[in-house]
Amino acid sequence: MRNGTEIKRRRTFAVISHPDAGKTTLTEKFLLFGGAIQTAGAVKSNKIRKSATSDFMEIEKQRGISVATSVMGFEYKGIKINLLDTPGHKDFAEDTYRTLTAVDSVILVIDCVKGVEEQTEKLMEVCRMRNTPVIIFVNKMDRHGIDPFDLMDELESMLKIKVRPLSWPINMGPDFKGVYNLFESYLNLFHANKTTIERDLITIEDLNDQAVDRLLQQDAQRLREDVKLINGIYDPFDMNKYQSGHIAPVFFGSALNNFGVQELLETFIKIAPSPQPRSVTTRIVFPDESNFSGFIFKIHANLDPRHRDRVAFLRVCSGIFEKNQFYHHVRLNKKMKFSNPTSFMAQDKLLIDTAHPGDVVGIYDRGNFKIGDTLTDGESFLYKGIPSFSPELFREVINRTPIKTKQMEKGILQLTDEGLAQLFIKQPGNRKIIGTVGELQFEVIKYRLLHEYGASCDFHPVPLYRACWISAENEQDLKTFLNRKSNNIALDKYHSPVFLAESKGVLKAMMDLNPEIHFSFFSEYMIASNDSIQL
Ligand code: G4P
Repeated sequence: MRNGTEIKRRRTFAVISHPDAGKTTLTEKFLLFGGAIQTAGAVKSNKIRKSATSDFMEIEKQRGISVATSVMGFEYKGIKINLLDTPGHKDFAEDTYRTLTAVDSVILVIDCVKGVEEQTEKLMEVCRMRNTPVIIFVNKMDRHGIDPFDLMDELESMLKIKVRPLSWPINMGPDFKGVYNLFESYLNLFHANKTTIERDLITIEDLNDQAVDRLLQQDAQRLREDVKLINGIYDPFDMNKYQSGHIAPVFFGSALNNFGVQELLETFIKIAPSPQPRSVTTRIVFPDESNFSGFIFKIHANLDPRHRDRVAFLRVCSGIFEKNQFYHHVRLNKKMKFSNPTSFMAQDKLLIDTAHPGDVVGIYDRGNFKIGDTLTDGESFLYKGIPSFSPELFREVINRTPIKTKQMEKGILQLTDEGLAQLFIKQPGNRKIIGTVGELQFEVIKYRLLHEYGASCDFHPVPLYRACWISAENEQDLKTFLNRKSNNIALDKYHSPVFLAESKGVLKAMMDLNPEIHFSFFSEYMIASNDSIQL
């Protein structure tokens, strides 16, 4: 099939949520509808269990299993769907942020009882930065939750995006009767049902029809009033505004009960964008260009000593990726070919010959790749917008086996290339400060340095609030600031200067006193217009 046709029929997306809102359950139901799995529970068993939070080896074991489900490809009504999995564990939040650079849209799951939660806000922030189109699925409607109109207000104010309901619930909790689909005017009646995927759909041309009273009885009038109110408050759904990330359509349902899931999937394939043009350092790359290009957004290292392999995940952005073809590794300025590229169909890894824009290819890697690396047919450019976020926990590395200094340095560089943590070098003395978003990463680094590089280390806590990348219009201003504040300055591994702030107060004072310096919670490489810090 021609590349153009293949591009149009692809939808590459991620399901994201605060832990426990129902991401895994919804993902699994999508796979059931797509025929990619036959039984419920297949994805769930791969989920990092909450009980394992203190045992990273257990988590790694489960992460190892879940590499197969990192990308779940399946066909639904002629559409090739690539669902990119994101780790639910908060310590791996950075993995999730990076995966969001490889998708064309997301479905954000909200628990109707809890509403917007901490991680929901952070994830939405990342989507907003990149104008990623978002569909919101309000889950667990079989429970008594926040009033839907209040929830719409909460979504708009806390997620800072305009919303447009496309379905509307009739009651909730034990009285939940179903939803009215405002997009296509039908009633979907609810039956608690965890196993089958049947639906009870009734087309309603006119809500004033008496059939609605017969079906919904005392709730019919309320639904008419709600729909009138919705049409009064919200503008009609505008596909362009959704696809440009300016309005989020909202659906209601219960993933556990298979309710509203197929409705969501059907609308998703109609409105979600196929692979879009992307910015690179020199120009905009269009997916239907004949030359191949793509970037690495994730590296998975297997900790099992019997299978010490790494898989680099390549998102194809333009042209057609082909097995055994020489490609240009832009950062290393090196030609490379791949003889065993894999694609992922549900839980199977398959060897592939070709891949199209929107697809994710797994490449076996012996240390050639870093997150953010670009591969092309020969042209030299880099994909933009692979963010490095300011870590929240900082520790200094103390080498316990000086004889292994070289191995330790190599190990730290390679592990940070995988995106496990960030490295900052502080003078005097070349002190190495590791920054992460979770405690677990320190355990993983310590373990891997010892087992893979034979280097033993300790970590000493460094009481820091954040590391901010700094820049200035005028080079001299930056130099002066770096000299004046040298005690608080470190370099990241790309030699970009960062300001190490001990507290929010210190950072705010620095920003107020030095308006000529730009402070950012994202690395310089993340080129976003709205990345200034609001304290
Ligand atoms: P996550 O991936 O976002 O962390 O959430 P997950 O799907 O694991 O769901 C979290 C919990 O919420 C699970 O219960 C799941 O069964 C439940 N859940 C998901 N969708 C619905 C829904 O529509 N209605 C209701 N009432 N519950 C829902 P658990 O007890 O933590 O796990 P399990 O023992 O059921 O597997």
